[in-house]
Amino acid sequence: MYLTDTEKRMRDAEMGEPVRTAMEILMALGEIYGAEKLIPIQNAHVAGLSLKSHGLAGTGWAEDMANRGARVCIPTTMNVIGVDRSRDLHLPQAWVKDQLRIEAAYERMGCLGTSSCVPYYFGFVPRFQEHIAWAESSAVVFTNSVLGARDNREAGPSALASGLTGRTPLYGLHLEENRRGDVLIKVSVPLTNLADYGALGSYVGRIIGNRVPVFEKFQEPSIEDLVYLGAGLASSGGVAMFHAVGVTPEAPTIESAFKGKKYEVLEITAKELEEGKQKLTSAKDRKADYVAIGCPHCSLNQLKELATLLQGRRVNKETTLWVHTNVAIKSLAKQLGYVQVIEDAGAVVTQDLCTILGNPEALGFKTLATNSPKMAFYAPGSNGLDVWYGSVEQCIETALHGFWSA
Ligand code: F3S
Repeated sequence: MYLTDTEKRMRDAEMGEPVRTAMEILMALGEIYGAEKLIPIQNAHVAGLSLKSHGLAGTGWAEDMANRGARVCIPTTMNVIGVDRSRDLHLPQAWVKDQLRIEAAYERMGCLGTSSCVPYYFGFVPRFQEHIAWAESSAVVFTNSVLGARDNREAGPSALASGLTGRTPLYGLHLEENRRGDVLIKVSVPLTNLADYGALGSYVGRIIGNRVPVFEKFQEPSIEDLVYLGAGLASSGGVAMFHAVGVTPEAPTIESAFKGKKYEVLEITAKELEEGKQKLTSAKDRKADYVAIGCPHCSLNQLKELATLLQGRRVNKETTLWVHTNVAIKSLAKQLGYVQVIEDAGAVVTQDLCTILGNPEALGFKTLATNSPKMAFYAPGSNGLDVWYGSVEQCIETALHGFWSA
């Protein structure tokens, strides 16, 4: 791989041992994927910061890197960690302690403790065609597709390596030719809420794997609709990019999305959408003792909607309702009064953590109700929970009554 003089000095440890380690990671990736060179980037997003993904060995590695002087040289945000630093959620003390070690190590390396999978909601917004190195699959698919940035699905260590060097290997979705569509998706069923967009993404992801889907037509999706569509695609299928014709910046027309490439067609009717929802549901009856909203982390609009749904109502005593967001959005939502309304109803608005990367199962929950395709996809394996997948209204009904009607 071609290296500039500066990159050779990085490789030869002239800029410190941690930078040499980072270069090793990036060069190995580049060799695997046939990258000709590294390219400069202006920001990175590090994920995999939960104790579940890091383990104690990874925690020791991060602390060692910090001790040896590793420091990021570009703005580098942090993904969700597994604890809420603002309150005691009664999670096991050992878990909290080790999670905080991970977070402290990355902060010592200069990473920003934003602790969220949606940094694009609060100021970290890559521009069109900007090359970035973000981990976190739901964020990658959003930045590639909706913002038109250039990003591969980085792992935690490679995103950190990019943060330490300001470089990423030139391959995959950094190259124009790999951003063309592979499959045209014709949707003939109305999509009415986030759960519909999430189920559509999840269904399509399962069918097409990690290829690039092109959605023929959507009726004015909101930003949150696109976030949920992407989260479904990314979790069930490993999709890192989609086009929505007339909506996303690289697809003003079908032709511009495919750029002459041959493509398959996949039809989505009410039947496929329903199948998408069914596949995300593993619970046998309609009861749930745990309801979680906010995967990816809730936007301000979602918190406003939840406040409206919960105004003057009360979560039933047998059910726990957690609403996941981050410190930035939560601060705004507090100022606007949404947090007060949601918590007066008996729910908890969490920051820094989420169900999948946290440890709510330690509190004894058995069945989760959620409107998140990603949470529904991973919770059985990651948390050992049975799952009901439905709309936010159904989830709130469950929180209020312990079950939802058909
Ligand atoms: Fe975000 Fe956690 Fe879901 S990182 S996308 S809330 S699994």
